[in-house]
Amino acid sequence: MSGKNATAVLLADAQGIARAAAILERGGLVAVPTETVYGLAARADSPEAVAKIYAAKGRPDFNPLIVHVRDAEQALRYAELSGAAQALASNEWPGPLTLVLPRKPDAALAPAVTAGLPTVALRAPAHPVMRTLLQAVDFPLAAPSANRSGFISPTTAPHVLQSLDGRVDLVLDGGPCKSGLESTILAVRHDGTWEELRPGPLDLGALHQQYSADTGLRLLASGSSAIEAPGQLESHYAPGKPLRLNATLAGDDEFVIGFGEVGGDCTLSASGDLNDAATRLYDCLHQAAASDRPRIAVAPVPEEGIGRAINDRLRRAAA
Ligand code: TXA
Ligand code: MG
Repeated sequence: MSGKNATAVLLADAQGIARAAAILERGGLVAVPTETVYGLAARADSPEAVAKIYAAKGRPDFNPLIVHVRDAEQALRYAELSGAAQALASNEWPGPLTLVLPRKPDAALAPAVTAGLPTVALRAPAHPVMRTLLQAVDFPLAAPSANRSGFISPTTAPHVLQSLDGRVDLVLDGGPCKSGLESTILAVRHDGTWEELRPGPLDLGALHQQYSADTGLRLLASGSSAIEAPGQLESHYAPGKPLRLNATLAGDDEFVIGFGEVGGDCTLSASGDLNDAATRLYDCLHQAAASDRPRIAVAPVPEEGIGRAINDRLRRAAA
């Protein structure tokens, strides 16, 4: 399947996963499907391997990485989990939830993974390929989204190749990602507060309703604390051309991404389904970026449920 690509692409079957495990073992880089987006994985315990992630993405070194683990038990080797964090991890993992937690001082992680912060971001992903891979190796995997820093996130293997061909050792092709948007990131602190650092597939309102009574966690307004998700400050997900939001009418030079009644050159969801829209968002942005029209216009998307996360990404893509 490698065709004319400089980077090898393998189907994510048992053989492909075994090859990926061997490359990771040696400190190489492998793009792996997760339920959210494709991740660019390297062993999190190796400074050399982690340095390759930053180099391949062109990622600024102050922007820390998410460490992917099998489960809450493995997470305990790297972070302190309060009772509330334990509850979230055991109920919501595997799934699209990243917890930012106090890092254990003796955690066997390359220092660059956490970019010098006293916290570490941990997630146990649900995708069967990533899960099998995490079982096959005896280290956790640092994995940001598998795109050049600042560009559109990848939800298919061809998206990965568009920005990282020749810069990674292997792409495991597991088909399109189901959820389509990066994980919800929550900081869970020992002072009994929690804060959403990045909206995502798991809805904060629903999580709060489910957990606040039992855990006593107090929700801080997003961005109210000094500790931010550093990567959230930049313009991001950028298609490389001007992008206009809340468009109901289009100009001749615009590639239109529709939603519901607003049609377009591509639609997030003709029936107005927000989950479908999340799944399709990055593919539509990739199509818009590749089109010969110099501008992009996107139909209004309601700010409810996962619509919050979609609009968050669109605002950053427009910035
Ligand atoms: O769904 C996802 O989360 C995907 C898949 C591959 O798992 N990964 C992903 O990684 O989106 P990335 O690197 O594109 O985004 C990670 C975000 C960044 O905004 C980073 O700043 C934040 O997590 N982050 C990582 N460690 C942190 C920490 N200790 N404190 C605050 N934010 C942190
Ligand atoms: Mg990213």
